[in-house]
Amino acid sequence: MKIIAHRGASGYAPENTLSAFALAVKMGSKSFEFDVHLTRDKKLVVHHDYDLKRTAGNPAKISALDYAELKKINVGNKFGFPVERVPLLEEVLQLISHQAEWINFEVKNDGNVYPGIEAALLELVRSRPGLAGISLISSFDYGTLKRLRVLDNKIKLGYLGRHLRNLLLVPAIINARRIGAASFHIALRIAFGLNVALIHKAGLKVFVYTVNKKKDALRMQKIGVDGIFSNYPDILQK
Ligand code: G3P
Ligand code: MG
Repeated sequence: MKIIAHRGASGYAPENTLSAFALAVKMGSKSFEFDVHLTRDKKLVVHHDYDLKRTAGNPAKISALDYAELKKINVGNKFGFPVERVPLLEEVLQLISHQAEWINFEVKNDGNVYPGIEAALLELVRSRPGLAGISLISSFDYGTLKRLRVLDNKIKLGYLGRHLRNLLLVPAIINARRIGAASFHIALRIAFGLNVALIHKAGLKVFVYTVNKKKDALRMQKIGVDGIFSNYPDILQK
């Protein structure tokens, strides 16, 4: 079972920052997840929310800022880290690439708020030798996944189920297969043996978010999920 550093080692360092990724690397992570957005001047950056409210106490939206403005904002005031910036996606890749064996780019693009983000991401992924083969692109936004598939018929896609309940699982699996997804990502809340078996039966790998307790991680291992997203890369050693 893969232990995927979720937003870097975000249980120990400010999420989605270079410090969080550097720490995950130091802790030995080989699998990484982070969230991708696009600035007003079309730079791919790594941050979870669409705005800076939660991470910086600043209501500005990423889509309304050029990168030069965005990088002035401190998003790292947590765990005693004084200053951290929203990193460029390229900086994150630079930091993790020598060790990464599996990288999940989660594209935040609800309602296509970042037109062109799919092509920009694919261009970056294809530009680094060997990167496309270890990449998996996921999104909660089905339109984004569909556009990615039209632009690239080989890249691995991950279907992210939002507010999924047991009853909605089968239609969601059908949608995931429709875009040729390689994996299906579910919340811990619905990660039970029967659901996992159903998804596996459809030929999809199962990745579960977000697993931050050792007892849950052990249960996931037992029911045979392929990987867990965790803020604690050392979750099984805790
Ligand atoms: O990609 C898995 C997980 O990160 C999805 O939820 O909100 O943490 O991005 P979120
Ligand atoms: Mg995410």
